[in-house]
Amino acid sequence: MKIEPKNYLDQFLCGDAIEVARTLPDDCVDTIVTSPPYFQQRDYGSDLQIGIESTQQEYIQRLADLFEELRRVVKPTGSAWVVIGDKYQKGELLGIPWRVCFGLKEIGWQLRSDCIWHKPNAMPSSAKTRPTTDHEYIFFFSHSKKYHYDADAIREPHVTFSENSKMKGGRKHFGKRGGTPEQGKNQGDNNLHDGRWDQAFHPSGRNKRTVWSISLSKFREAHFAVYPPQLVETCIKASCPEGGVVLDPFSGAGTTALVARSLGRHFIGIDCVDEYCDLARRRLDDRQ
Ligand SMILES: C[S@@+](CC[C@H](N)C(=O)[O-])C[C@H]1O[C@@H](n2cnc3c(N)ncnc32)[C@H](O)[C@@H]1O
Repeated sequence: MKIEPKNYLDQFLCGDAIEVARTLPDDCVDTIVTSPPYFQQRDYGSDLQIGIESTQQEYIQRLADLFEELRRVVKPTGSAWVVIGDKYQKGELLGIPWRVCFGLKEIGWQLRSDCIWHKPNAMPSSAKTRPTTDHEYIFFFSHSKKYHYDADAIREPHVTFSENSKMKGGRKHFGKRGGTPEQGKNQGDNNLHDGRWDQAFHPSGRNKRTVWSISLSKFREAHFAVYPPQLVETCIKASCPEGGVVLDPFSGAGTTALVARSLGRHFIGIDCVDEYCDLARRRLDDRQ
């Protein structure tokens, strides 16, 4: 049975993500932004939860089954951002994020980018035989070959030149494609190919890079790590048009929904723990 839009748009739906996804209509979502539970990391206290499987294979299969159902729900021009960290077992790194990633590729999701979420304030660790981990992966998948991606919405500051740059030729190209050619050995418009102009002179900044340095944020009411609004903001601005729909099938404390609403997008949140759905609803109500 499919549910009416008014019953799922801007709502937190409580239940097992795959079961709830089955009730959603085809092509109703522009982008997914989510952080699935880690493998064997935390007990969310629900029989329905993902992450407590006894083997990695079962865990990866459950996520793949869910994302297969989500392919039906996401528009052909849509996408998915999956934030996922790795795990050590008996001192050995499991390589879970890439395994999940390959699982999703096998069912048709097209991998467009593997971004690194670098956490400048990551917890110190007692590790002495390896570096301390301070990153997670952000995999960006598209549903199909042609997908919505607004590069201009997430440009970042230039590092090569600025408007005040003293470097020869730099300022003259700022914001002006085909502007005055540089002087000296590099002179000539040919030198100012699209990639270089974009890198150094695009008025809104250079194209977004794959390492995102964002501090972990705290939300005291949640018993688990919430991800930072800034991270979610980047994903939504890039891949959900204004007025579009963002889905988080593991919505937890509702960070994705909160950011989606603040950016003028609709949301659908799914979580298998009633208490977290209530917490997310309260969090959104408090920010009306
Ligand atoms: C890492 S937390 C998500 C936190 C969220 N990104 C935030 O910022 O609040 C993972 C969430 O997945 C939920 N979860 C686990 N298994 C689930 C399942 N099978 N269906 C729906 N939700 C599930 C947990 O209850 C938990 O809230």
